[in-house]
Amino acid sequence: MVEIKKMCYRYISPHTYNFLAFVFAVEEINNNSELLPNITLGLHIKDSFRYTRKIIESALNILAGQSTIVNFKCNSFRTVAAIIEGFTDEETYGFYNMFQIYHYPQVSYSSQNLYMSDPVQYPYFYRTVPNELHLSIGIGKLLKYFGWKWVSIFSNDDESSMRAIQILKEGIEQNGGCIALHQTFPHQRRIKNFELQKIVRASKKSSTVNIYYFNKNAVFSLDNVLDLQKNVKSGQVFIIIAEVEIIKKNQKHFQISNKFFIFKPYKKVMPNFFKFIREMKPIRLRSDYQAKDWWNVLCDSSCPNHIKRDCNSKVKTEGEGHCFNTHFGSSYSVYNAVYVVAHALHNMIMSGSGNSTTWIRENRELLYSLPWKNGLGEEMYLDENGDLATGYNILNLIFLPNMTLKYEVVGHYNPHAPPGQDFTIDENVIVWESSFTQLKEDLNSDFIHIVDMDTCITCPDDQWSNQKRDACIPKVITFLSFEEPLGIALTSISMFFFLITAVILGIFIYYGNTPIVRANNQQLSYILLISLILCFLCSLLFIGHPEDVTCILRQTTFGITFSIALSSVLAKTITVVTAFQATKPRSKLHKWMGSRVSNSIVLSCSLIQTVLCLVWLCTAPPFAFLNMRSEIGTILIECNEGSVIAFYCVLGYLGFLAGISFIIAFLARNLPDSFNEAKYITFSMLVVCNVWISFIPTYLSTKGKYTVAVEIFAILASSTGLLGCIFIPKCYIILLRPERNNKKDLRKI
Ligand SMILES: *[C@@H]1O[C@H](CO)[C@@H](O)[C@H](O)[C@H]1NC(C)=O
Ligand SMILES: *[C@@H]1O[C@H](CO)[C@@H](O)[C@H](O)[C@H]1NC(C)=O
Ligand SMILES: *[C@@H]1O[C@H](CO)[C@@H](O)[C@H](O)[C@H]1NC(C)=O
Ligand SMILES: *[C@@H]1O[C@H](CO)[C@@H](O)[C@H](O)[C@H]1NC(C)=O
Repeated sequence: MVEIKKMCYRYISPHTYNFLAFVFAVEEINNNSELLPNITLGLHIKDSFRYTRKIIESALNILAGQSTIVNFKCNSFRTVAAIIEGFTDEETYGFYNMFQIYHYPQVSYSSQNLYMSDPVQYPYFYRTVPNELHLSIGIGKLLKYFGWKWVSIFSNDDESSMRAIQILKEGIEQNGGCIALHQTFPHQRRIKNFELQKIVRASKKSSTVNIYYFNKNAVFSLDNVLDLQKNVKSGQVFIIIAEVEIIKKNQKHFQISNKFFIFKPYKKVMPNFFKFIREMKPIRLRSDYQAKDWWNVLCDSSCPNHIKRDCNSKVKTEGEGHCFNTHFGSSYSVYNAVYVVAHALHNMIMSGSGNSTTWIRENRELLYSLPWKNGLGEEMYLDENGDLATGYNILNLIFLPNMTLKYEVVGHYNPHAPPGQDFTIDENVIVWESSFTQLKEDLNSDFIHIVDMDTCITCPDDQWSNQKRDACIPKVITFLSFEEPLGIALTSISMFFFLITAVILGIFIYYGNTPIVRANNQQLSYILLISLILCFLCSLLFIGHPEDVTCILRQTTFGITFSIALSSVLAKTITVVTAFQATKPRSKLHKWMGSRVSNSIVLSCSLIQTVLCLVWLCTAPPFAFLNMRSEIGTILIECNEGSVIAFYCVLGYLGFLAGISFIIAFLARNLPDSFNEAKYITFSMLVVCNVWISFIPTYLSTKGKYTVAVEIFAILASSTGLLGCIFIPKCYIILLRPERNNKKDLRKI
């Protein structure tokens, strides 16, 4: 059944070749008595006129069986065996999701989307063009073959193109090439004129090769190509992936320079197809005035013989029209798509796996079983991704001396060929622009001719390229210094708290005989204050130009002093608990109350940390390190921890001490001790634990000198937490409420 509705939409003439190829292939298969005996293939053509809305409408028609109500199968519509489509990459993806619900196999003759090459995710998707992954590899091979190193890329911003470009870039860089520029353009619409101007301006710059990786499924008009080559320096080549349409017989006013390489999926000339077009009755397809024009063009006596129709009326189309075009849409890929479906049906019937033509997932395997031949006698097969095992032609757009243009196939890239034979270039066929020929002669006569393309070097690690990308300049050296604002702020904060702690220590010594100072082990308070003073001071070690010595001192001094602070807090907590227990009758805990016990807790706990630090220093001590890769354009001088495990062990041990103190203090928070010490210790440990828990993700996610700042901040915050929660309330009573500083009142608080 051939049905093409009459509609006034954008008319795209090469599409008619695709439809004709479809009809041709179906007829050829139906004529073949061996391929599908007893089955006649039907067909149904829907023209989208490049409107997504039209595609949706047609898809719903197919799914609903001609009615527009989805999920209802109305009318007697024969079983759909497969859908052959020529959507854009994104439409293909979108409609796949729709068709797969009904398990309709979808065969694309245009989408090269590399993400859809996954047979697990897209079991019903097949295509008769290679996927884009091969395109990027093929372009890389062409660049490598000619030693072109200095490359500008202009591409669409869709996912598949971006991934392909990424692969291409990696390939170029592996071969020692450079990406001078990569500019992307929105993929949802055609490129606007001002954007084309932007490209032209960018192309003028230094690169040797400009890759135009966009409008994948579209056709560049000759005007686009003229725009591209305008103003571009000689000695530059273009690699493009869109077809260039040659639709005029008389191209004498064009002057296209010979610098265009075009990558197109394989196409073959199909003589029987031309015969079919020449002899077909146009009435079988749509008949509106545009379709009439289309057929009329073929009647023009100036059309090439292979496509010229034998019409009664003598038509003149002034040597302009689609009969001069050399690519005939995607007719070859459409033709193969029909053969893919026919062979799948053939295999299904032969294997007896079904009497109907309904597709089941297992049938996929049937398609891979054997290679087959299409009507041209070419052997073909689907690869493991469901893509037809085919490759790319590399075409050269040649401007002949008699002012005509033609395509010449100058090479192939076939990823399915054996290694070594996959990429071929026939240099004799390539017609070079005169500047290239000149360059070659220069090189041959040993004359060193320096052009941009050969001077691409990679800068050494401590240098990077300047903005013009023509020289290497040294990178900027950074570290957290005392002079910069952040350094000054952190230094002032730590000095401020250092002084505060020293003053508090002075107050405690001065009021050493008052009950509040004597409560819960005076000695421990002194040890805690001194270790806090050291903690504030050791944060200064983190600022300034890192040297091996400061790197070694940084973590270890902090680790040890802070562990002293935490273990004295732990000792204080234990003192509170034992003091309470000891008041109970017959308790044996008196003897645990002495300062000897608390001192040994402090000593043993900090000794463990010291041993940890010694092990760290003996095995993998921290060292000063020039980090060239942390940020672009800078060299970061930092301390390398030496052993990350040791670093986290030291931090972890601090966390362990804080955790133990927190738990004991929390359980003891309501004990009636003198001056509620347990409650304040609970608060302070809460602060410490919070600071160090949030430290780790922040530390890991910051870069450069800010990691150091984060650690300094954590040290200052946790030390301040201890100082504030444990000592400020006491100072408040000592200085402002001296009347409450007696044993009786303290118990009441
Ligand atoms: C199919 O067979 C018919 C009848 O023999 C013939 O007229 C027609 O051209 C054939 N079609 C193709 C595409 O071979
Ligand atoms: C085709 O139909 C004929 C007659 O009905 C039958 O003899 C033949 O076996 C069928 N062939 C296949 C392959 O089913
Ligand atoms: C073919 O169809 C017949 C009747 O519709 C059924 O009995 C038979 O099982 C089918 N064969 C296969 C292989 O599905
Ligand atoms: C131009 O020259 C080529 C080969 O040199 C030839 O094939 C072609 O027919 C010529 N075209 C015209 C319009 O003369």
